[in-house]
Amino acid sequence: MFKPRILNFGVIGLGNISSHHIGAIQALPDCRLIAVSSRSEQKRMKAESQYGVKAFADFNEMVQLPELDVVCICTPSGQHLDACLAAAKAGKHVISEKPLEISVERAQRMIKACRDAKVKLACIFQNRYSNDYQRVCDLVKQGKLGKLILGNAYIKWYRNDAYYQATDWRGTLLGDGGAALINQSIHTIDLLLNVMGPVQSVSGKTRTLTHAIEGEDIGTAILEFKNGALGTIEGSTSIFAGFPERLEIHGDEGSAVMEAGKIVALKTRQGDAFEVKAENSNSGSSNPMAIDLELHIAQFREISGAIRNDREPEVNGEEALKALQLVRAIYESSRSGNEIVLE
Ligand SMILES: NC(=O)c1ccc[n+]([C@@H]2O[C@H](COP(=O)([O-])OP(=O)(O)OC[C@H]3O[C@@H](n4cnc5c(N)ncnc54)[C@H](O)[C@@H]3O)[C@@H](O)[C@H]2O)c1
Repeated sequence: MFKPRILNFGVIGLGNISSHHIGAIQALPDCRLIAVSSRSEQKRMKAESQYGVKAFADFNEMVQLPELDVVCICTPSGQHLDACLAAAKAGKHVISEKPLEISVERAQRMIKACRDAKVKLACIFQNRYSNDYQRVCDLVKQGKLGKLILGNAYIKWYRNDAYYQATDWRGTLLGDGGAALINQSIHTIDLLLNVMGPVQSVSGKTRTLTHAIEGEDIGTAILEFKNGALGTIEGSTSIFAGFPERLEIHGDEGSAVMEAGKIVALKTRQGDAFEVKAENSNSGSSNPMAIDLELHIAQFREISGAIRNDREPEVNGEEALKALQLVRAIYESSRSGNEIVLE
């Protein structure tokens, strides 16, 4: 019987989200965790005994392991580039957490380094892998919603002061690149762009209204898509007590509305119609760690298949860049007061 080649993984950064990478690797029979990198001696010792892996203080040493195939980057957003350059130079495939980096220029350097080294680059946007979101994508592809006319992303989440104080990077310009839009809202912005298509122009306003942070804790944007549809984004980490994020897709033949990853309303002229009350899920609306492991597992399954079969991962570097480009354009619009035309 054909047995797929085992892929050996190493994880850089043992903070919050690393447990989802380790959990996904452990859940997949043809993936194996062999190494971690952490600056904390305590975490290195714990990982060595808990997972039976090699633990490195310096990721530059970890990426040299000859048996290592894939490097997962779970460091703060503004540090993804350094880890990616080291991994690519050592000939290892890269899975980076979202956002790809904090600026378009830094993200493009990641993409180029991986292309030059002929290794795959994938970025985690796990919400693309919910069954209901995939159903919305299918409905749009099949033309069931007709011509797209309006797309809205509402991410009215809440993070308390302790969340920002717990690390030295969240909410900072160098560590996070901003705050509510680039860190939290970017998930739903990615879903919006993936369904609606590329944005032609954007006007945005961002403010920092309730937290003592450098980045924005509230932001809004008006979008015009290249296909002529309009759209809006409202993203925040200041809305007490946090509401499930919503994605609303409207075409001239019907509408699909998702809340916290589930379709809550679907109405088409062809007959599909239902409205449900969202299940009691608050996604990450008030709890940063309310992240469904199954979605990371689904994306890791897709990425490891891409690596094994030498094809592009669905969310490769160029794909992940789109949401980052839009968020940076919203920041630029807010700063300059101008509408920004996207390239
Ligand atoms: N996909 C999701 O839903 C999701 C959820 C949370 C965070 N994230 C992303 O994951 C990344 C990390 O976020 P987090 O909440 O886990 O942050 P965190 O602060 O909890 O963890 C980051 C870890 O990286 C470590 N680190 C920093 N520099 C390092 C280095 N040079 N070598 C080794 N370790 C190093 C830090 O010590 C820390 O333990 C961010 O980019 C964030 O946007 C994604």
